[in-house]
Amino acid sequence: MTLSDRLRRLFATVTHATAFTGAGISAESGVPTFRGADGIWNKMRPEELASMDGFLRNPDLVWEWYAHRKRIIADVRPNAGHFALARMEHMIPHFAVVTQNIDNLHRRAGSTHVFELHGNIERNYCMQCGRPYAEEEGRGAPGVPRCPTCGGKIRPDVVWFGEMLPEEEWNASVRAAEDSELFFSIGTSAAVYPAASLPVVAQSHGAYLVEINPEPTPLTERADEFLQGPAGRILPALVEALHEARKAST
Ligand code: OAD
Repeated sequence: MTLSDRLRRLFATVTHATAFTGAGISAESGVPTFRGADGIWNKMRPEELASMDGFLRNPDLVWEWYAHRKRIIADVRPNAGHFALARMEHMIPHFAVVTQNIDNLHRRAGSTHVFELHGNIERNYCMQCGRPYAEEEGRGAPGVPRCPTCGGKIRPDVVWFGEMLPEEEWNASVRAAEDSELFFSIGTSAAVYPAASLPVVAQSHGAYLVEINPEPTPLTERADEFLQGPAGRILPALVEALHEARKAST
């Protein structure tokens, strides 16, 4: 893989970096992406399955769909791309992962500094009283569970279309983007806002913007460097290059 001299020089000195990830980083683990030929939104309707209206119309269907996705995610493992980002956290003093994914694979790979902009499928809460709800409380009964405290419907702790992003995670992500000298946009179609504005925020605050994706996206023209290919191949190579650059500079 050919890296620019600029990126190699930056690798030697960088102290603040962010990796912004989307469904593409989990594709090689076997988690389906949303857009593209085999994407989820080609087969399912987001307004039915990922919106409050859809949930209120048919909570059991939405609950079952998330249960299905939970089973897929429980059965897969983080891949070389997730593990490479977990290693970068140890190599760059201020390194954050900002993810649109709800699959928890970054944490499972060992990343600890993770901001989840669209929630986490492993968590649930009561839509009436807000109480967190652990799956085991329902003992696998079919259909949407009810809150043991108030009887309200339990929903997955994910962000649906039309909903606000979790405020703290969003503010922390914007700060990380603004502080970054180096910003990676990885495996995202960069189509869903406000998350997709982060690479531009970072770049306009001086970050060098590197995109990693097998396909060009609306971001590609703006990116300072486009590394075309799967994250599971490119990211481990970047960790090696980072390692070399660090070694040479000490
Ligand atoms: P998308 O499905 O829109 O985009 C996935 C991207 O990953 C595409 O650009 C692919 O080219 C790329 N890709 C595929 N395989 C890859 C690989 N091995 N390595 C790297 N990249 C690869 O997914 P997101 O951009 O994450 O929101 O979608 C953003 C949001 O839209 C999701 O968080 C979800 C969805 O609706 C909500 O549910 C709120």
